[in-house]
Amino acid sequence: MAKDSEKSTWKDFIWNSRTREFCGRTASSWGLILLFYLVFYIFLAGMFCLTMYVMLQTLDDHKPTWQDRLGTPGMMIRPRGEALEIIYHTENTESWDMYVKTLDNFLSPYNNSVQAEKNEVCQPNQYFIQSDSGDVKNNPKRSCQFNRTVLEACSGLEDRTYGYRDGRPCIIIKLNRVIGMLPGYEDQAPFVTCGPKREEPNKIGLVQYFPKNGTFNLMYYPYYGKKAQVNYSQPLVAIKFMNITTNEDVDVECKIISQSIPPGSERDKFAGKVSFKLRINTKV
Ligand SMILES: *[C@@H]1O[C@H](CO)[C@@H](O)[C@H](O)[C@H]1NC(C)=O
Ligand SMILES: *[C@@H]1O[C@H](CO)[C@@H](O)[C@H](O)[C@H]1NC(C)=O
Ligand SMILES: *[C@@H]1O[C@H](CO)[C@@H](O)[C@H](O)[C@H]1NC(C)=O
Ligand SMILES: *[C@@H]1O[C@H](CO)[C@@H](O)[C@H](O)[C@H]1NC(C)=O
Ligand SMILES: *[C@@H]1O[C@H](CO)[C@@H](O)[C@H](O)[C@H]1NC(C)=O
Repeated sequence: MAKDSEKSTWKDFIWNSRTREFCGRTASSWGLILLFYLVFYIFLAGMFCLTMYVMLQTLDDHKPTWQDRLGTPGMMIRPRGEALEIIYHTENTESWDMYVKTLDNFLSPYNNSVQAEKNEVCQPNQYFIQSDSGDVKNNPKRSCQFNRTVLEACSGLEDRTYGYRDGRPCIIIKLNRVIGMLPGYEDQAPFVTCGPKREEPNKIGLVQYFPKNGTFNLMYYPYYGKKAQVNYSQPLVAIKFMNITTNEDVDVECKIISQSIPPGSERDKFAGKVSFKLRINTKV
């Protein structure tokens, strides 16, 4: 008998036909609970959407909301090789062909024809400022032409091997984009200079810079960001090693010189400078 009543209490708990209760609650009680949670979760979802909406409204597509002080921009070379080493043998075409291909690809968007189509001829030696007037955005912003022919002997147009075959290779240097950076100082454009890395006899020999003096013209600054300035072409500086010591490792360090760019810290080895190794083998 005791067993029977125990069974029936369990059954009664799940469905008590006397009081018409399911798991101890009536249908209307269950309904109220479901309704409460439904309203509660709709409210939470609403709050979330509202907060996201307000947050996104305050973001500007065209410039970063958070950007610390303008630091020292990084520098990089092309071609970069493995671990910033450019090693080849002048007699072995295959050993330098990949460098030539890299440069061909890299410079393709700088073809004069491409630049003439995308960008415009700007007034050199001054910043190309395109301000927004208050909330009215002056977008998209225009960009200045950087013609491949500016790199002359390193443009790959007359000398299709960029000097690699003759042991007078070209290296192209770019300064990373920093939104809003004004790298000049009293009309003086920033320029690149390359030299031996350590205190050691100069094995680098004569270096030619293109454009002259290795400058980044001021007209390419400030940069307004990828979304605002869709066709922006980063200015470049090419260096050509005219008489570098062959069959030996040569360490080269290139730096950006500008009164307005703080020298890079020791911690960041690409801030405002870039070091690389060149080894050109000529002996058979
Ligand atoms: C750029 O010019 C080079 C050499 O004239 C040519 O091989 C290449 O296809 C051109 N690239 C573009 C994108 O026009
Ligand atoms: C770039 O090259 C194009 C085509 O040759 C030319 O029309 C344009 O004036 C050049 N731009 C600059 C800034 O020299
Ligand atoms: C960007 O380049 C395209 C052609 O490639 C041109 O139609 C467009 O007007 C350019 N935009 C700006 C802002 O210069
Ligand atoms: C290069 O630098 C020299 C001396 O600093 C200066 O006289 C010359 O005008 C500069 N050339 C260019 C093209 O900036
Ligand atoms: C090239 O450099 C070597 C030493 O590295 C030097 O003896 C030679 O005179 C230099 N040639 C020229 C044309 O500068």
